[in-house]
Amino acid sequence: MADHDPSHWNRYNAKQARRAVRPLLVDALTHAGGGPGRVALDIGCGAGIETRWLLENGWTVHALDADQQSLDALNRTVAPAGTRERLRTSVVDLNDLPCLPTADLVYSGYALPFTDPAHFGAMWRRVREALAPGGVLAVNVFGDHDSWANSGTGTFLAEAQCLSLLDGLQILRFDVEDEDGMAFSGPKHWHVFDIIARRPGPSS
Ligand SMILES: C[S@@+](CC[C@H](N)C(=O)[O-])C[C@H]1O[C@@H](n2cnc3c(N)ncnc32)[C@H](O)[C@@H]1O
Repeated sequence: MADHDPSHWNRYNAKQARRAVRPLLVDALTHAGGGPGRVALDIGCGAGIETRWLLENGWTVHALDADQQSLDALNRTVAPAGTRERLRTSVVDLNDLPCLPTADLVYSGYALPFTDPAHFGAMWRRVREALAPGGVLAVNVFGDHDSWANSGTGTFLAEAQCLSLLDGLQILRFDVEDEDGMAFSGPKHWHVFDIIARRPGPSS
């Protein structure tokens, strides 16, 4: 994995501009319902493709990332009328995540696993605390068969450990990808859990 290089994520995010919205988020919105008057988090938003899509669907979005340049680019390119005022961006470090705004939808695409193991538990508590009653969580977590698992960077969980993160939530989707594929940095083995879950309670 190449994220020891501080410019890695900036270069990754700059190459994302033309890809489609991640299917996990598209699926999550079928469970979460409509955006107007409701709040979403996009944690590790990168180029902001999912943030933009949430804005287009009427959500108020807090977009969070460590990469200031990617957040600047997102702020520059969000169309103003009726949209910009619903976007907040913040630089955060997953290894020292502050208290997050309460949200009806907490989305994080391929970002939470880049938390160091020593900080993963505290990060996950912040994520769970942010979820409003009835709110929907949609995230990717990396598994321990992943070829980056021995890179010394990030957190890689066995399936049972991953499922225990969801205790008390209603699991709506739990897909396991365990196969060879491509990454920005080249070919690799992907072991990824695609998760959608709901916090019990009435949604707003
Ligand atoms: C693989 S990219 C995913 C970006 C976007 N969500 C997507 O699906 O394309 C990982 C993102 O996590 C961010 N990131 C990596 N480590 C981080 C950390 N410690 N704190 C906050 N963000 C981090 C990177 O800047 C990058 O934007």
